[in-house]
Amino acid sequence: METRSTGAINETPVRKDVDGDTDDANCHICPVDPAANGTARARWTLLRQVLRQKQVDCPEVKHVSVRRFSTFDLFTRKRLVINDTSNTSDDQWVEYQSVSLPKYRALLRVHLGPLKVNEVLNSFDNTGNVCVWPSEEVMAHFCLQKRTLFKGAVCELGGGMTCLAGLMVAICADVREVLLSDGNEKSIHNVREVVERNRQAGVFSSTSVSARVLRWDCDSDISPLEGHFDVVMCADCLFLDQFRASLVDAIRRLLHPKGTALVFAPRRGQTLALFCELAQQAGLFISQHQQYDHYVWDTHLKMLKEGKEAYDENIHYPLLLTLTKGPQTVSHFK
Ligand SMILES: C[S@@+](CC[C@H](N)C(=O)[O-])C[C@H]1O[C@@H](n2cnc3c(N)ncnc32)[C@H](O)[C@@H]1O
Repeated sequence: METRSTGAINETPVRKDVDGDTDDANCHICPVDPAANGTARARWTLLRQVLRQKQVDCPEVKHVSVRRFSTFDLFTRKRLVINDTSNTSDDQWVEYQSVSLPKYRALLRVHLGPLKVNEVLNSFDNTGNVCVWPSEEVMAHFCLQKRTLFKGAVCELGGGMTCLAGLMVAICADVREVLLSDGNEKSIHNVREVVERNRQAGVFSSTSVSARVLRWDCDSDISPLEGHFDVVMCADCLFLDQFRASLVDAIRRLLHPKGTALVFAPRRGQTLALFCELAQQAGLFISQHQQYDHYVWDTHLKMLKEGKEAYDENIHYPLLLTLTKGPQTVSHFK
């Protein structure tokens, strides 16, 4: 698939069914939505991909379709069988266990039921409800590797239906507080259940962990938290043209003067470069890293040999950006 900077995401490893159910949409209303056209385009792109994938999932098509890249295999995934006969939902709980640091594991609910046409059309963005994207997986792995560098308060923005990376920080690092967030209410509903389940499993020690709807373009979401976070991070959130500037602004405002933002995202055409440009204009100091972890880099090199049909670095390889408010030549994360 080609890459355009239209705000449309270019490849979605969608695994969901679509039905036409007309439940109420999960729309977090913000006073101003200045780019409704771009939003609608992104929604339609996702819907098209979901419908296409449904075709791909049918047996006649499967044998001729090319398997596209969807994971760096940094976590093993073990499906949990719940012995509760009263539970009739199609909940799927999966244990994610780090391959490189197996003592770190988290329980995730990764199937939110069929993606409803109404949801795609009426909520502002559902791309976080279809899967854990490779950038999120890579960011979670990176956080585990760098766990001793985290301190104080940490916030994940646009974490989707699992906020896997923020969750891993809450599990492995000696931090005071982790806020897991996304702009989509359905995602956050799931993240809250994920947090509760992991809390019951006793994995958080003394860290305070919470999840909430936080929209980058919503002043009342950002203002009370201004300057609060030592680390702000996000994965694969740079592709939506209409929200890129508000993401930069949210990062700048949420970050403590001495804090660091970690951003993982593939290039996706011009979208990463445009984000960097906006971040610089906003006065942030930014550095870009291609080789930040040898497991991820080795997989990248191996996958490149498979050819562009299976792996296209433009849409699959997450680069790491570190952003600071001051002119630190080297962020302590890199
Ligand atoms: C491609 S998904 C990435 C989700 C997750 N980080 C991952 O990589 O699996 C982009 C996420 O950004 C969120 N998002 C988009 N626009 C947003 C906004 N204006 N405010 C907050 N979150 C937003 C979406 O809800 C979605 O979960």
